[in-house]
Amino acid sequence: MQEISVTRNPSPKQKPKDESALGFGRLFTDHMFLMNFEEGKGWINPRIVPYGPFDMDPASMVLHYGQAIFEGMKCYRREDGGLQLFRPTDNLARMTRSAQRMGMPALDEETALEGLKQLIRLDADWVPHRDGTSLYIRPTMISTDVGLGVHASKTYLFYIILSPVGAYYKEGLKPVSIYVEDEYVRAVRGGVGFTKCAGNYAASILAGSIAEEKGFSQVLWLDGVEQKYVEEVGSMNMMFAYGNKIVTPKLNGSILPGITRDSVLKLAASLGYETEEGRLDVEQIFADTKSGKLTEAFGTGTAAVISPVGTLALRGEKTTVGDGSIGKISQKLYDTLTGIQYGRLPDEFGWIVKL
Ligand code: COI
Repeated sequence: MQEISVTRNPSPKQKPKDESALGFGRLFTDHMFLMNFEEGKGWINPRIVPYGPFDMDPASMVLHYGQAIFEGMKCYRREDGGLQLFRPTDNLARMTRSAQRMGMPALDEETALEGLKQLIRLDADWVPHRDGTSLYIRPTMISTDVGLGVHASKTYLFYIILSPVGAYYKEGLKPVSIYVEDEYVRAVRGGVGFTKCAGNYAASILAGSIAEEKGFSQVLWLDGVEQKYVEEVGSMNMMFAYGNKIVTPKLNGSILPGITRDSVLKLAASLGYETEEGRLDVEQIFADTKSGKLTEAFGTGTAAVISPVGTLALRGEKTTVGDGSIGKISQKLYDTLTGIQYGRLPDEFGWIVKL
């Protein structure tokens, strides 16, 4: 593991006073972690420096050809004031998988994790205290070669920034409404759907704006070939409950392998629910919601945590999931997952890394 240099911020900012108004990703802490990659040298110069803008050449490759990947994870404050991370090594390993698909170098995961720990210790006072808040962690990797030829860059920048956050959706734990997108697609098999590359999110923005104009929180993406099978909601994976059985789309290369998705599947099984991963026909999901056979729908994600879905809309028709309020299973999974994340419940899975 490499030595990490630290330059302290001489003018730290005021911490937010009202933790009920944090929102998501609007404020950033006093420091950031950086590390460079150079072909032939590997990852070099790991450092913590004051948070601030980068100097970038306008011909930097990331600005033209989009070699940019990121991760999302969180640091939680326990009731005793201590801090803990949730599955950070799984996120960093996923970043390496994204990097491989995007022609980018594997991350030095060990140095990245150590840099993250040191960064959070330095900015520890920024981890909010209020129930439901946390410090959102955004590791990012971008290509930095200057030039307009389309080929893999030989230099990269990896950085981590931190943001104190509340709920991702303004609804909090209140059910959100989701619009099934049947015109645009997010990803296709063989593409980059399984990676956390910036382009996947860029591809979702137009449809997201249209859905918002229609009064929906997010869009539910269908598969890119037949536009028939449920994939994911850009900011979260989707799960549906039929009584005590939870079903979710099987990972197929075009869906993000969510760390929260995986955690919820494992938690659900340990709580005695039946779980199944498969191909979910959207027409069937919609019909089962209308008939009441499908009893709950919820999204899972680091930012979204567990987000109940109260309304589904497909081709102009709307239907309410269950009675439109958070279901029993969603609530139980939310309480258990956040119980582990905030240290209120024992971690039987080895997911927690204390700081
Ligand atoms: C996360 O849940 O961490 C994500 O990266 C989703 C993002 C759209 C906020």
